[in-house]
Amino acid sequence: MCGIFGYVGANQAGGDIILDALRKLEYRGYDSWGVAVGANGHIDIAKHAGRIGDAVAELPDAPIGFGHTRWATHGGVTDANAHPHLDCTGRFAVIHNGIIENFRGIKDRLLASGHQFHSETDSEVIAHLVEEAMADDPNRDLISAVREVFAQLRGLNAIIVLDNRTHQLTAVKNVSPLVLGQGTKGLYLASDALALVGHADRIHYLEDGQMARLASDGVTLWSAETGASQPPDFQPLTLTANDTSLGIYPHFMIKEIHEQPEVLRNISSHYSEPVKELAALIRESYGSFLVGSGTASYAALSGSYLFSRIARRHVNFTVGSEFKYQEHFITDRSLVIALSQSGETADVIESVLAAKQRGAKIAALVNVKGSTLDRLADFSIPLGAGPEQCVLSTKAYTAKLAILLMAAHELNGSLHVARELLWQAIDGIEQAIAPDSANLIRAIAARIVQREHAFIIGRGLSYPTALEAALKIKEVSYMHAEGFAGGELKHGVIALVEQGTPAIVFSPNDETRDDILSGAMEMRSRGALTIGVSPVNDQIFDEFIPVADAGDASPIVNVIPAQLLGYELALLRGLDPDKPRNLAKSVTVK
Ligand code: G6P
Repeated sequence: MCGIFGYVGANQAGGDIILDALRKLEYRGYDSWGVAVGANGHIDIAKHAGRIGDAVAELPDAPIGFGHTRWATHGGVTDANAHPHLDCTGRFAVIHNGIIENFRGIKDRLLASGHQFHSETDSEVIAHLVEEAMADDPNRDLISAVREVFAQLRGLNAIIVLDNRTHQLTAVKNVSPLVLGQGTKGLYLASDALALVGHADRIHYLEDGQMARLASDGVTLWSAETGASQPPDFQPLTLTANDTSLGIYPHFMIKEIHEQPEVLRNISSHYSEPVKELAALIRESYGSFLVGSGTASYAALSGSYLFSRIARRHVNFTVGSEFKYQEHFITDRSLVIALSQSGETADVIESVLAAKQRGAKIAALVNVKGSTLDRLADFSIPLGAGPEQCVLSTKAYTAKLAILLMAAHELNGSLHVARELLWQAIDGIEQAIAPDSANLIRAIAARIVQREHAFIIGRGLSYPTALEAALKIKEVSYMHAEGFAGGELKHGVIALVEQGTPAIVFSPNDETRDDILSGAMEMRSRGALTIGVSPVNDQIFDEFIPVADAGDASPIVNVIPAQLLGYELALLRGLDPDKPRNLAKSVTVK
């Protein structure tokens, strides 16, 4: 949440490099953007509310600067609240990702001692705190001043300070991510390695409490705790421009939907070893807990059904933000399996940290290598899905389902069955994204696009699919879609069904079919337009979306029409599917 990018190097067009990199980070927040460069003895800033789009930052040439894309937490979406923020003297600028939990008290104290604030953000206190720390001795080493300031901030924060007198960037982080990049034209800092593609050849993930100083003479790292210097642990940047570009697709959402067969082929062919390790951890644990937020939470819930059904194992499930209210069960024999595309979701990280404190083992299914969760976990399985740049999660979701399906079968001693099911699911996805199917979904989208509500039902394995389908539709198209367990229909929600209300019905060839069709009938009798997603048509469906039967891998196939429906509804409503309002891809705040 919030993207940050810094540059120090030989290129005088620092402002352009930074603005361009911010476009790649915009999925982290797109309420406003801003760039600061240090030139001619002062700091120049361009910052605006709204998306970057084709904006050009009117800034002087400079070889040092940084930029920020904001997802607002403290203070509205205004130019003034956009980062960077300056101190009173104009010597220091600051960008920040996170929430400073104790900012109110700090700000009151700074105001009382005469500091002038220009924004409502928590972040601005950092600039004034640095100013104060340097006030007695303007030649004080900035690293020691920032170290002192950072120690005063509570929360999960990443900050970069630009000092225009000594021409350096100083950065430090706690949980919120920062990646250091080194390339032929300079040094970089970014919230995500994606933004370093085309600039850096080597990257180093900053550790929590690790400080970095970037200047024209190179980079130095220190421990914020001890002050001792630390050598960077550079590794090659393996992402390429192909990974980060749209290619033939108009949006990342549709590109990523279409990448799913490839992602699953890789998992099916190459994941036996990590899956065996995950299964062994579950087998050895005394209580396992699946944790995730948003889409990842529905993958986690699916996992609890799969482990129960296939492996006869009770694996608990909790959403990330609720875990702390149930953590009392966690002991040093527990296993927490954290699911996250970004590996940065604060609610999930917090759960993992709490479980670690209780001595639990942590396994992670995470897409972004080097992310906080990836590094916190005792055992991490990379999803290998490639960068997911649409804010909505699609390919990371089906990748998690595939790994959980394999782990459940491995526990049951039937890994080969999971592989066969996955190949059926891959064929099923290919059919679901083929032009004929896509046209059918487009036509159904056109039929329901004017409706305010849609209801989605599933039972058993299809219950989490109904929840995920509803999330996809509402996130991207702003249509109110509600997913629920088919049996719950008559306990309240049916009161909302009117003539023409779309009712999507997941009806696989399993033990839920008869009951879910009864539910569909109950909705249809009250006027609902029933849309069946099933391998087999039925006369009670007004619209029918045929899907392949992939047995227990059906949730992987069945979610595809919902992903496509959300996409088509967004297009029909004139919305940008990649950047829905109010959302951000990487939610690093609580
Ligand atoms: C945000 C996104 C969701 C995503 C959730 C969890 O809320 O808008 O699409 O599912 O974060 O993200 P994660 O990176 O942990 O999977």
